[in-house]
Amino acid sequence: MANVAVVGAQWGDEGKGKIVDWLSNRADMVVRFQGGHNAGHTLVVDGKVYKLALLPSGVVQGKPSIIGNGVVVDPWHLVGEIEKIVAQGVAISPDILTIADNACLILPIHPALDVAREAAASAPGAKIGTTGRGIGPAYEDKVGRRAIRVCDLANEDDLKIKIERLRSHHDPLRAGLGLEPIDPAALLAQLLEIAPKILPYVKPAWRVLDQAQKDGKRVLFEGAQGAFLDVDHGTYPYVTSSNTVAGQAAAGSGIGPRGVGYVLGIVKAYTTRVGEGPFACELNDEVGEHLAVVGREVGVNTGRARRCGWFDAVLVRQSVAINGIDGIALTKLDVLDGLKTLKICVGYRINGEVLDYLPSSLKAQASAEPVFEELEGWSESTAGVRTFKDLNAHALKYVRRIEELIGAPVALLSTSPERDDTILMRDPFQG
Ligand code: IMP
Repeated sequence: MANVAVVGAQWGDEGKGKIVDWLSNRADMVVRFQGGHNAGHTLVVDGKVYKLALLPSGVVQGKPSIIGNGVVVDPWHLVGEIEKIVAQGVAISPDILTIADNACLILPIHPALDVAREAAASAPGAKIGTTGRGIGPAYEDKVGRRAIRVCDLANEDDLKIKIERLRSHHDPLRAGLGLEPIDPAALLAQLLEIAPKILPYVKPAWRVLDQAQKDGKRVLFEGAQGAFLDVDHGTYPYVTSSNTVAGQAAAGSGIGPRGVGYVLGIVKAYTTRVGEGPFACELNDEVGEHLAVVGREVGVNTGRARRCGWFDAVLVRQSVAINGIDGIALTKLDVLDGLKTLKICVGYRINGEVLDYLPSSLKAQASAEPVFEELEGWSESTAGVRTFKDLNAHALKYVRRIEELIGAPVALLSTSPERDDTILMRDPFQG
């Protein structure tokens, strides 16, 4: 098992950026396989903060990195992100970065539609709380077979034909939302202007991956968002528009399923979610406030406050199953320092019945009451602890109980945002 896929096991924001960055050291290549710039990864290296949304985290370390076909690419955002990261002293060239030629583009019409729809969603429960980046509308055009793809940027005639196709679908939609029709000449001009900045990076990414496999390289697949934002397995419709589970690492990059390798689930020691949707363990009290403040639970990308709650073992156990998680990286344990009592959700009471899984029905999800188990907290600091034996007994007990309840071992334990504050129990690259 030479390759590793890193996926969020909750609702995103589990601290994947740091773990991916840490694992990039051991990898030869890093691949993004779904989502877009709705993701926000913060990396702290030697005290320097890097904020990435679309670029694979490997670029910070100069590792060859791929934006796979499963990603929706906003070329203007990408160019801006490249410029920012280059200004921070990171070298990015076509030797480092590959953009899959068959990835679909996010166009300015997509965020406009995303935002207009959210604004128009006035019925109770109709708002999704999207990031407003156009992710959903771009994936709709992809499965509707009318998207403009990265490879189309090389051909003006193809762009013209595709823009016409988009107009016939989007203009009636836009009219219904009070938006002006698409201006085809302006859109074409925008695309022709950005094309030369993107095209040098464009390749058949599956071939780059295939060659890397043949050369025995270790590939790290970097997931975005989390299992319960998955369009199939998540708390639908309060989800993102891509598959976020580990299986997508194969389809979203062009490698066979056996190439995915070890699946590392990133798990936060408590639970957060951004946007609307059911959240059984949510806390609207001083403990929730503690988690939000100490955990600095604000979106990297959108600046939105994250909702916070107790650790939900039912949710993560389900995540272990649907992702095929081999081991987890447990993050932000130190945020729990100082809490007297800790609660872990071990079941949901729904209509008088206790379930050990999250049912698909939104109504059932929304009415689920958590069944908690209590554990003693700790007053000692776990921040920056670098060996397991230095963890206090109560923190250790909490970690062991999580492993037991979710049915997966802790492979890595992260005790601060710093790259080196990571305890390795098992090297994911060794399987
Ligand atoms: P979208 O992906 O912008 O369509 O948003 C759909 C849902 O996914 C909303 O609840 C967002 O808050 C959530 N979401 C999207 N990306 C992220 C992320 O990177 N972290 C956490 N939540 C996210």
